[in-house]
Amino acid sequence: MSSRPFAVIILAAGEGTRMKSATPKVLHQVAGRSLLGHVVEAAAHIEPEHVIVVVGHGREQVSAHLAEVAPWVLTVVQEEQLGTGHAVRIALEDLIARGGRPEGPIVVLTGDTPLLTGASLDSLMAAHEGACTVLTARLADPTGYGRIVRKGSVVSAIVEERDATDEQRTIDEINSGMYVFDAAALGERIGQLGTDNTQGEEYLTDIVGMLTADGLVVNAHIAADPDDIRGVNDRAQLAEAAAIMRDRINVRWMREGVTMADPSSVWIDVDVEIEPDVTLLPNTVLQGPTVIATGARVGPGTTLVTCEVGADAEVIHTWAQLAVIGEGASVGPFTYLRPGARLGTGAKAGAYVEIKNAEVGDGAKVPHLSYVGDAQIGEGSNVGAATVFVNYDGQDKHRTVVGREVRIGSDSMLVAPVEIGDGAYTAAGSVITEDVPPGAMAVGRAKQRNIEGWVERRRSDSSSARAAREANAASGRVQPDDASDDVREE
Ligand code: UD1
Ligand code: CA
Repeated sequence: MSSRPFAVIILAAGEGTRMKSATPKVLHQVAGRSLLGHVVEAAAHIEPEHVIVVVGHGREQVSAHLAEVAPWVLTVVQEEQLGTGHAVRIALEDLIARGGRPEGPIVVLTGDTPLLTGASLDSLMAAHEGACTVLTARLADPTGYGRIVRKGSVVSAIVEERDATDEQRTIDEINSGMYVFDAAALGERIGQLGTDNTQGEEYLTDIVGMLTADGLVVNAHIAADPDDIRGVNDRAQLAEAAAIMRDRINVRWMREGVTMADPSSVWIDVDVEIEPDVTLLPNTVLQGPTVIATGARVGPGTTLVTCEVGADAEVIHTWAQLAVIGEGASVGPFTYLRPGARLGTGAKAGAYVEIKNAEVGDGAKVPHLSYVGDAQIGEGSNVGAATVFVNYDGQDKHRTVVGREVRIGSDSMLVAPVEIGDGAYTAAGSVITEDVPPGAMAVGRAKQRNIEGWVERRRSDSSSARAAREANAASGRVQPDDASDDVREE
């Protein structure tokens, strides 16, 4: 049977105490998406009419998160966690109160199973027939889970570990907590759940026993990959889930034509897009909706958060966020690109360079030891080593505009607001406070003077004085004595 589900109900009201966190459990992240976000994504894949999340603990945070990442998802508040059956009951009541008419399949999921995929829900839906199909798994260690009691090929009951007999505890087929129900079969019974169990809760699992008692068929569908149903209860399980997710993502990109020298050290968020023939070197972390075009080489040791990398660009040992790196551009090693950094085609940002809110034009270069903030650098310009774009006067930020084919001398301070015209030069060591016209050479530094004989007079016993004497003797140079214009050493 494969009609469109009426609803997916996602249970996420529990406290998640074992996470020991101020953040609700289902908002912890795996590969750049919340646990709940992964489940919502899988739910959306089977195109239900409604997705409704039952929220309780941390409901403000969970609801705000959903409004941001999946505003089409409904939420219903479960004030007290009176059991999985109670949670499904209030979700159904809420859908009906909103004018929904439950018909066809209703899927129940939990919010803490980030490895659940749309494909595994597809196969659950395809397998579903009768009143209910339970998604199950066979585990070497079934401890803690509800056990699937079968009669022949169909399910007769689900028993919670706490309520199970010794014999039932030996069953290795477990309840994932995910199900497809026929809406009518569920709706007729959800109001009749008792609380006669060790926890005094309304167990959703009791519906199974009620259905079979009424002669209806309950099937079990064993998950093709038991990882899909893995729940996260503590941070160790969070890390395990993240590792499995990482492997899945990396294998997918390698199959799409991405080379990874060491996939075990490459971390890629779910929203990243990578073209074929990209090479990712060890210790590369790609976060947010980062996009990498064909032929680019990224890493080693690079983190890109919400960046665009152009074709054939090279990014080595770099940390970049909200930056755009042009086609064939070269970045790193040891480069820090902050929000609004935009490198043009073939541009360069080299070692120990920090760039923020600044455009580096096509073919322009900032090769060494510089800070570029709030600026525009025209195409083909070169910024000498150790240049600082002095953008902050202690109160406000100002812009610097550097034209095309400009040569900024090393160790220049460009004090914004200031504009350097096309083709202009600045002398090394200049402090540029006034605009420079196109083609001019700007010199903004004290003129050098040499005080002859100073070392001989002030440091006559030093190794420097000896070296100077030897050099003068070897070249036959007579050192003039400039004592009249002496300065005191500090
Ligand atoms: C449940 C199943 C068990 C299954 C296991 C799989 C029942 C009675 N048992 O047990 O057979 O093997 O899941 O993980 O259903 N929740 C609410 N409101 C509530 C209670 C729970 O939203 O009132 C949510 C929790 O946040 C959680 C999920 O439902 O996401 C499961 O609840 P939990 O208490 O963890 O059930 P288990 O005892 O693990
Ligand atoms: Ca659980």
